[in-house]
Amino acid sequence: MKIAVPKETRAGERRVALVPESCKKLVQAGYAVAVQSGAGDAAHYRDDAYAQTGATLETDAAALLGSADFVCKVAAPTAAEVGAMRPGAFLLGSLMALRTPDVAAALAARGITAFSTDAIPRTTRAQAMDTLSSMASIAGYKGVLLAAEALNKYFPMLTTAAGMVFPAKVFVIGAAVAGLQAIATARRLGANVFATDVRPEVKEQIESVGAKYVGIELTQEAAAGGGYAKELSEADKLRQREMLADQCAAADVVITTALIGGVFAPRLVTADIVRRMQPGAVLVDLAADGGGNCELSKPGETVVVNGVTILAPLNLAATMPTHASLLFSRNLTSFLTTFTKDKTFVLDRDDDIQQGALVTHDGAVVNPRVREAIQAAKGKAS
Ligand code: NAI
Repeated sequence: MKIAVPKETRAGERRVALVPESCKKLVQAGYAVAVQSGAGDAAHYRDDAYAQTGATLETDAAALLGSADFVCKVAAPTAAEVGAMRPGAFLLGSLMALRTPDVAAALAARGITAFSTDAIPRTTRAQAMDTLSSMASIAGYKGVLLAAEALNKYFPMLTTAAGMVFPAKVFVIGAAVAGLQAIATARRLGANVFATDVRPEVKEQIESVGAKYVGIELTQEAAAGGGYAKELSEADKLRQREMLADQCAAADVVITTALIGGVFAPRLVTADIVRRMQPGAVLVDLAADGGGNCELSKPGETVVVNGVTILAPLNLAATMPTHASLLFSRNLTSFLTTFTKDKTFVLDRDDDIQQGALVTHDGAVVNPRVREAIQAAKGKAS
């Protein structure tokens, strides 16, 4: 069975789906692995390192995709890439099919069996395959470094010959994988950190990484199952907004990471809340890929409003491509090797992980949420 690793083509994407360490493992497991020449360059994994693993190098992307039984990619393929793939082939990557349902429709039409790692269940067995967690952790870390760079103050408390400076106050909104890593990173830099979330079980996790929990008593359950949050009731939204406004007004840095169902970003920080923040404060909207948690965020840009700098970086994981690729690649390899039998990947639609990750099969979109998203997009277009 031939696994192909093409060079990523999305603008600004510097990651590669499989690094040499993984290619070696997969070759040992009995796969033929072919990597597009230069696929790992931007992440500093060189062709000669791939060549030493038993993988082969190919120069023509279309020929590579057309000859593969199993394509490993970081991001969703372009229309040209879908067209180059062989009907009946497998695809594995972080396709974010709910955000780009048109790609899922094209993959189904092409007869590709596509798995998306961002749809696998959040279970202990699936943890090693979870690209969302690996990448969110990078975003949380990098988001704090961006904030520290943009802030015109120290993060830590310092006692100097010129007197004392007080630590920066950092407020983190949303404390799952990205938020907890942001808290831990800000704490390591010496900041005084506060954090909030709407799922009650998170309070203890916030405290375990060294932040103080702030929150409101919700009148309605906000956990949607599977660890994900659902949207708050209108009454709770209003009460939460007051709490957020007070916390943001007192903060030097606000880091937002809130998502609903792991996909879309609720608008939590309104223009009015930003207006109440201190001049010189910095807000890093880590939910920009999902539309942004701040009303004034411009995804992919930095704006300054009333002296508050608002960063809304996209695809932060690609800015740390060496480790991002390493972890992403280990996640994909774990998926592949878990379902390898007699040197072949075996489709098992009864397995809960495959069932969750499977987006298209046999010419159809099989994931119900993605099917709904396609219908909704069609409804909007007509
Ligand atoms: P996510 O990216 O979907 O959401 C980020 C956070 O935003 C969540 O904690 C959510 O509760 C919070 N949020 C949503 N609306 C909010 C609001 N109005 N105000 C404040 N916060 C709000 O989260 P992620 O990182 O994808 O994790 C989702 C769940 O999956 C978590 O429970 C996590 O512990 C769990 N998980 C389990 C894994 C496993 O068992 N294999 C692996 C990774 C995560």
